[in-house]
Amino acid sequence: MNAQTGVPMKSKPTSFRSRFLLRVVCATALSAALATVTSCSMKDEYTLPQVLDVPPYTGAWDMQKLTDKNPDPSIVEVDIEARVTEVAYLPGKKTPAWAYNGSVPGPLLEAKVGDKVVVHFKNSLPDPTTIHWHGVRVPNNMDGHTLMMNPVPAGGSFDYSFQVQDAGTFWYHPHVRSDSQVEKGLYGALVVRAASEPMLTSERVVMLDDVYLDANGMPMPVGDMMELMIGRQGNLLLANGKARPILNLRTGERHRVRLINAANARYFRLSLPGHKLTLLGTDGGFIETPRELDELLLVPGERADVVISAAASPSTALDVVTLPYERGHDTGALPQANVLRVQYSAEAAVMSPMLPATLTTIATLPAPVRTRSFMLSEQMMPMTSGHNGHGSSSASTMMPMFTINGQVYPNVPIISAKLGEVEQWEVMSDEAIDHPFHIHGFSFQVLSREGVPEPIRAWKDTVNIKGKETLKLAVRFDGFVGKWLYHCHILEHAENGMMGELDISP
Ligand code: C2O
Ligand code: CU
Repeated sequence: MNAQTGVPMKSKPTSFRSRFLLRVVCATALSAALATVTSCSMKDEYTLPQVLDVPPYTGAWDMQKLTDKNPDPSIVEVDIEARVTEVAYLPGKKTPAWAYNGSVPGPLLEAKVGDKVVVHFKNSLPDPTTIHWHGVRVPNNMDGHTLMMNPVPAGGSFDYSFQVQDAGTFWYHPHVRSDSQVEKGLYGALVVRAASEPMLTSERVVMLDDVYLDANGMPMPVGDMMELMIGRQGNLLLANGKARPILNLRTGERHRVRLINAANARYFRLSLPGHKLTLLGTDGGFIETPRELDELLLVPGERADVVISAAASPSTALDVVTLPYERGHDTGALPQANVLRVQYSAEAAVMSPMLPATLTTIATLPAPVRTRSFMLSEQMMPMTSGHNGHGSSSASTMMPMFTINGQVYPNVPIISAKLGEVEQWEVMSDEAIDHPFHIHGFSFQVLSREGVPEPIRAWKDTVNIKGKETLKLAVRFDGFVGKWLYHCHILEHAENGMMGELDISP
């Protein structure tokens, strides 16, 4: 890898299956078939971008905060505008972006349990968009999916309003062409605080992402079939929109970090050498008791609330890294990369309050009224017009499509259930390919993976389905009625079929 030019090296040869699929695709005429595919050269190895090694970013990197315009302490009323802007991911280079209120990530929205949140949203983008409140239990017509409402047109406005019921770390992003809109920079965080929160020395919200840029800071064009299959991975890792920003710690402090993975496809397997991370919460808020981890896997869409106990001596410098992780198609061949620089101050150690032994209680869900199975697959399919608007006149054109039980969204059977019912879902991936599975509108508890009972009881809305494994979860439809989506959170997979529809009736 040449760090100056950002030109990626070839990754190790892709698996036989990957190369085979790519040949099949390249052998057919597809130039007209797919607007998102720029070209299909005859190369049969995908070049997975290597991550650039950059010097630490020394500026401020905390998220901007939204200003609450409403004096009523139980109403949070804010303005969010989506617009085209420019950001500086690489020093001295401008990168075109789409952003909320002009910053990537968008601003942090903070509320407390029970608050009413009102968001006056203006779409100043050239394209239609929506805001989806990922993980937040909101009424169906506020969820930002397009089953029940039309997208907000270019130049249009929409007021989102809902009451926040659960404490936790959530995020917001578009639900129209998410693969391209989120990649361009449209994402932000929503933190809902409980009436009582553990006392810690300090806290911050960190949104992780990656972008794929050339040496001038311009986004690399959307790639070929393998990029569609793997999902877009970049060559620059970002924490709150900055490459390798500096996390200042003081020996002895307990620093709470609310982590959100906003990347289209990258899995972050985070580790801070010589330190343990203490997990306080997952997608849907606190777990019952703090749990020590050596490393943390955070898949696209997922959140983790962790405490770093600053155990190293004053003046130590090291990096939070993301370790290699194989999620299919030789993604694990990439070496570890730096995410955050950690710099200890020279000051003497500080004393920190102990973590509470109990954070919350989570009841086991009652027995399910029914069980459903979902098989996630990646398969070559003949293109027919209608899939996501990619029309094709050639019936012989083969495209990678992503299916749930063999169906390509939106041509899927709608599954129905009643409000309050509990179901058991068995979710599987038929190849050695992982998929982050997300359900809108409701939280679930993981019961087991490959028959092994889940060690932690937790509220989740996004969970990794490991390749060739079966995960069982219990979901209770205790939110709002209406139609809801469930899908893979590798955004290229969701946009190309791996999505389903759920209808909850009273
Ligand atoms: Cu964050 Cu439908 O997704
Ligand atoms: Cu997927």
